[in-house]
Amino acid sequence: MRIALAMLLYVYALYAMEGKEVYEKKCASCHQGYIPMSKLKENFQDYNNTLLKLTAPTLNQLSYRLKKSIGDPKGDNEIHRMEVAAFISEYVLNPDRQKSLCLDEVMQSFETMPSLKGKVSEEELEAVSTYIYDFDEKVVEKNSVQYEGFEKALQKAKNEHKIIMLKVMTKDCYYCRKMDREVMVEKEVVDMLEKDFISVAIDISTTELPLGLKAEFTPSFIFIDENSKVLMNLPGAWNKMDFLDILREAKKKQR
Ligand code: HEC
Repeated sequence: MRIALAMLLYVYALYAMEGKEVYEKKCASCHQGYIPMSKLKENFQDYNNTLLKLTAPTLNQLSYRLKKSIGDPKGDNEIHRMEVAAFISEYVLNPDRQKSLCLDEVMQSFETMPSLKGKVSEEELEAVSTYIYDFDEKVVEKNSVQYEGFEKALQKAKNEHKIIMLKVMTKDCYYCRKMDREVMVEKEVVDMLEKDFISVAIDISTTELPLGLKAEFTPSFIFIDENSKVLMNLPGAWNKMDFLDILREAKKKQR
């Protein structure tokens, strides 16, 4: 049993490594890796792709779109992975715009993908599909602001005269996830949070809020000063500009 598990993990690790190589060799000439969502939106909505001049959807776009649109994202993960991999393999061999899952406003900027039939093996497709499946979450994790536990955050807030930014979320909340992908990874947001705030994230489906706090909504953002005084308690999701304004507002309320 142990050995089987170890082998399985080994195979996954191999896939992850090979997947990246396959991507670099066979897909990267057209599909760029990670570009932040705000840049992508600006490029497609305001500039008709003249800003970035992309030749194909980026990997974070692909990863997010395919996972969201194919099968049941909240169902069994192994099955979902297989469904997404099947779509990718089929698309790479037989590209067909009718079957595309990307937004029309994005697709209209691109030529149809040429078929890679005969240029990529079944194993390579399997490996690259795993890489694409995991890509979106990995880049979000890598670029996101870092969260601390509440007790430690309170101590730090006292020592460093900072404000606690408490994000109230649940794992399945769509708008929490959307903000994680589109706002909490933006450089200006991360920089500002790291300079003047300590960030805490609490999943209210599993954990109670500290200080007897209540939140009706996910996400909610509660700002708490070093003396445990609540400065602001805001339900709702925000875009980058509005969230930066909220952070400035919280700073103004700090004494
Ligand atoms: C020569 C350029 C080129 C190469 C190389 C290329 N692609 Fe594409 N790909 C595109 C373009 C352009 C699109 C968007 C238009 C379309 O769907 O035909 C696309 C679309 C896709 C889609 C469908 C997206 C959707 O909206 O459903 C998938 C999946 C995909 N590519 C995977 C891959 C993988 C995996 C590789 C590498 C093994 C790869 N592509 C290599 C140009 C390329």
